[in-house]
Amino acid sequence: MAQGPRILAGLDVGNQRVLALVAELDEHDELIIRGVGVAPSAGMRAGQVVQMKPVVAAIKAAVEEAEFMAKLPVERVLASVAGTFVSGRMTRAAIMLGPREREVTAKDLTQLHAAAQRQPLPPGHTVLNVITHSYMLDDQDGVLDPQDMVGRQLAVDAYVLACQESHVRTLEKAINAAGLVVEEFLFAPVASAMATLTEDERRLGGIVVDIGYGNTTFAAFSSEKLVAAGCFPLAGNKVNDDIVHRFQTTAAGAEKVKVAAATMLLADVGEEETLSVPTIDGRGAHVIPRRALCETVRFRLQEIFELVLADVMRQAPADTPFTGVVLSGGGAHLDGLVALAEEVFVKRARLAELEGVADATNLLASSELPSRSPAVAVGLLAYGKKLLVPTNVPVVRAQRRHDGLISRLTRKFMAKREVAHDHV
Ligand SMILES: Nc1ncnc2c1ncn2[C@@H]1O[C@H](COP(=O)(O)OP(=O)(O)OP(=O)(O)O)[C@@H](O)[C@H]1O
Ligand SMILES: [Mg+2]
Repeated sequence: MAQGPRILAGLDVGNQRVLALVAELDEHDELIIRGVGVAPSAGMRAGQVVQMKPVVAAIKAAVEEAEFMAKLPVERVLASVAGTFVSGRMTRAAIMLGPREREVTAKDLTQLHAAAQRQPLPPGHTVLNVITHSYMLDDQDGVLDPQDMVGRQLAVDAYVLACQESHVRTLEKAINAAGLVVEEFLFAPVASAMATLTEDERRLGGIVVDIGYGNTTFAAFSSEKLVAAGCFPLAGNKVNDDIVHRFQTTAAGAEKVKVAAATMLLADVGEEETLSVPTIDGRGAHVIPRRALCETVRFRLQEIFELVLADVMRQAPADTPFTGVVLSGGGAHLDGLVALAEEVFVKRARLAELEGVADATNLLASSELPSRSPAVAVGLLAYGKKLLVPTNVPVVRAQRRHDGLISRLTRKFMAKREVAHDHV
């Protein structure tokens, strides 16, 4: 049985866990999550595949669990990408419609989008996503959809995300080897923004910061435009490393004590409070001051927020208004993080709620995942819906190479056979 036309699958291959979501678009074009699959990630580091086999196995496990729960087969996925090998910038592309005014056609739009993708890129780089803003038809600014309108010159403002091709191709190979075809890749924080930013925040200025295990990624919107996005290889894992080094404990002990006892609100922590952590050899335990633990964690998170802020300021045009910050990802569960974000960004901050998709079936809420960890995967579904349900603003799909399609299909066939074989 093939994947139905109104079935969407989002695959977030994270550094800590692989998350697969299967959703159905109902008759009112509402997304209903039907399946959730989670598998511990292995073979990924800072968004890059460092060992193929465990990545393929984790993808397979997560997708099979989601398929099983949904009782729906998955063949095509929307997949996230994140890493320092992705970077973006704002660009303007224009085409002449001809010497005389005429109506803009769908073909013109395709041509314009192709022009936006023809970017001068460093060697080995390719365009990952083109996030279009408004169009300009002659001197009329702010056109949402120029089709059927009349003019002579058509231009578009877009944020073009480019990436080092080899990393994305390797990830695609891993996904193919798990028997799946990638419909489209999307830069993870852009997906997270689709799941978490309200329309008002997108208009008035909102910065999404997704704090994961290996990466912190961000996307900043203002006046409904993506104005900055990026990634730093510093997140929950780095915090754990800091704890390991300062308190000579195990990685597992660091994770445990961070989740259980760290807060960013130092004033709430008494000087006399102590905690017990395993010794580095894991054989004993020693006592550490809780205040020192919180300072260590806070110091790293403050650094991460400062890096994000500096990069947003560097990329966004001067005087771009922002009203708030939204925190997503598993790392956003740290106690008191909103207050720290407000202090660094000098803006209102809040925790992400996944507003992009109604969790009608409560499947996400009842999974063992921290509630803000699925933001990227939910955003992939929201993006997939945009591709399926025509909106008033056309979505630009990055031109993907189709070479290797045959071998990809063969691999898919082989992988399915393997799955069938495993089940015998
Ligand atoms: N309650 C909590 N308090 C603090 N941190 C937490 C909590 N729960 C989870 N985390 C942290 O969240 C991180 C994992 O986040 P997430 O689930 O978003 O990972 P990921 O998407 O696989 O990682 P990445 O985005 O880097 O690929 C871990 O570092 C973990 O320590
Ligand atoms: Mg993540």
